[in-house]
Amino acid sequence: MSLRFQRVQDPGYIPDLVRIARKTFIDAFGPMHDPDDMQAYLDAEFTHEAFAEKIQDKSACFFLFGVEEWQGYLRINLPDKVGHPLELQRIYILEEAQGKGYGRMAMEFYENLAKDAGANSVVLGVWDEDPRAIGFYSHLGYQKTGRRPFPFGNDLKHVFLMEKKLAF
Ligand SMILES: CC(C)(COP(=O)(O)OP(=O)(O)OC[C@H]1O[C@@H](n2cnc3c(N)ncnc32)[C@H](O)[C@@H]1OP(=O)(O)O)[C@@H](O)C(=O)NCCC(=O)NCCS
Repeated sequence: MSLRFQRVQDPGYIPDLVRIARKTFIDAFGPMHDPDDMQAYLDAEFTHEAFAEKIQDKSACFFLFGVEEWQGYLRINLPDKVGHPLELQRIYILEEAQGKGYGRMAMEFYENLAKDAGANSVVLGVWDEDPRAIGFYSHLGYQKTGRRPFPFGNDLKHVFLMEKKLAF
């Protein structure tokens, strides 16, 4: 079984991206955050208009993925210099599709993109109060390299920076 990946460049894919981005974000983090902060973040980041603007940015790549139906998405940021790390900004999978190996496959897809781009490493940020995602990344060989602030509504959260050196 393999996953199909579709880069979102055609606006026809935006409704699926909005649907999956909103649902996965609410399911993963809704219970832990202030409802007003959540709503403000959803209204700023996860609307048709916001995605339509972001897909115009050549350095921000969105991919839907799934087997038959779309089950998750990635946001990958391309570096402005050849050979610099590619950054994974988001990986989100619908709850019913989690734990089936799709996360590992999506991470391999991302790491292969980085290798093809000539990068020696990949980097990401993960909320420091998300032990499940930190465990997932650690299991796949990512190591913490730092911590930085992440403003979220009226709150100040923090993310761990994690990195993986790529083996060729
Ligand atoms: C985190 C997420 C992407 C993982 O995807 P997934 O499809 O559930 O993970 P997989 O089934 O592909 O697991 C891959 C491997 O990681 C391991 N793993 C998963 N979670 C783990 C954890 N918390 N600790 C240790 N290992 C873990 C699995 O056992 C599996 O190991 P194996 O391939 O060696 O057998 C997914 O659960 C998700 O979308 N969560 C909600 C959104 C989220 O938190 N995104 C990250 C925000 S930074």
